[in-house]
This record gives sequence, C-alpha cells and structure tokens, in this order.
Amino acid sequence: MIVVGNWKMFRGPDPAALAGLGAIVCPPYVRLAECVDAGLVTYAQNVHWENEGAYTGEISPVMLRDLAVTGSLVGHSERRRYFGETDETVGLRARAALAAGLRVIACVGETIEERRGGRTEHVLRRQLSVLEPNDDLVLAYEPVWAIGTGHTATPETAQAAHAFIKSILDAPVIYGGSVNPDNAESLLSQPDVDGALVGGASLDVDSFTAICRTAARIRS
Ligand code: 13P
Repeated sequence: MIVVGNWKMFRGPDPAALAGLGAIVCPPYVRLAECVDAGLVTYAQNVHWENEGAYTGEISPVMLRDLAVTGSLVGHSERRRYFGETDETVGLRARAALAAGLRVIACVGETIEERRGGRTEHVLRRQLSVLEPNDDLVLAYEPVWAIGTGHTATPETAQAAHAFIKSILDAPVIYGGSVNPDNAESLLSQPDVDGALVGGASLDVDSFTAICRTAARIRS
C-alpha cells in the first residue's frame, strides 16, 4: 500500500511527527530538505523536464535529486486547471523525471462534466496516452469532482476506474479525492486500489496517521 500526503500550498505538519509511518510526503518546495532530513520519503509536487534553463519558477529533476528527494507528482488536476498543464507537458515532466532517476506519481482524473457526459474513459485514456510503463511510475486516480469537496468516489466507482486505468497502463494505481480516516478502509479494500493520495487529511497528523495505519492493516 502506498500512502501519500500532498500538502499542496500549505505549510504542513512537523515532519518528525510522521517518522515511522512509511508514507510519502509531498511538501511545498521550501520544506523538501527538512522532510528529507527527518528521514521521510519525500516527493516534490511538480518537476520541470529540463535540467536547467530560463524557466522562472520551475525546479529541475537534477535539483530535486541533489536534495535527495525521491520523486515527484506530475499532472495534478490543480496544475492542469490553474496553471495550464497539458497532457503533453505532463508527459515531458514524467519522462524527464524518470530518466533522471526520480520516481513519479502521475495524476489523472475526469471533471464532473466529463463524468456526467459519459466521457470518463475517453479522458483517462487521453491522459494516460503520454505515459509509458516504468517500474518507478505510479498512477493516481483523482476524480476532480472528489478533490477537496468531501464527495469521495464510492469504492465501486474508484474500483471501476482503477481497473480501467490498469487495462491501459500496467502500474499501481492509488486513489485521491477526499480520503479521510472514515472512508479509507472501504476505498483501500478494493482490489485495484493500491494506496491513497491524501490532501486535506494529510495536514493533520492524527488523521494522516490513522489512514496510514488502516492501509498497513489492509495490505502491506
Ligand atoms: P483532498 O484529499 O483534500 O480531497 O485532496 C486530494 C488531492 O488532491 C491529493 O493530491
């Protein structure tokens, strides 16, 4: 089971309080070194595809590696929605990070309009088309309508989407979208749900610890 805490643009908890949980944390860039130093498996929230260059505001794969960061998220829906991230740039970021020896969690997921319009599978297929199988690649199914809304996907909906994703690209698939200590067990019990990508609940040490313990109990 892979449990990941995405702190987004929040300061986040004290890394020392998360030691021994076996989870991955994705802090803001300014706290990467602190999390690495605390012994946590630490991923960035995004990564550029060039090693260096005139790309104001971006961070390169080698810079992350130099910090002993283990990997990076790419393609989070908030990047796609607010910062113009496209399938093409997600593919570039993922490929460069993997080539540099980083692990990658690539996020996919449909909006509520796409789901209501019956286009979920089409959208997932398109988002996955820029990615290739790789031992260091994990996929995150994050339906946009479930992120930060409290409207978690039902376990059946998550399971169906994960099975579809795996039919296209053979990789572990973790679920994200309003995961909390109360719904973690039913989601993580699904056969094709290989972990959780936790936003809001990862900012609270007790909630995140409870989710990690549930995950460890279900499958290690
Ligand atoms: P929430 O858990 O706050 O819904 O966020 C999910 C997410 O976007 C994790 O990357």
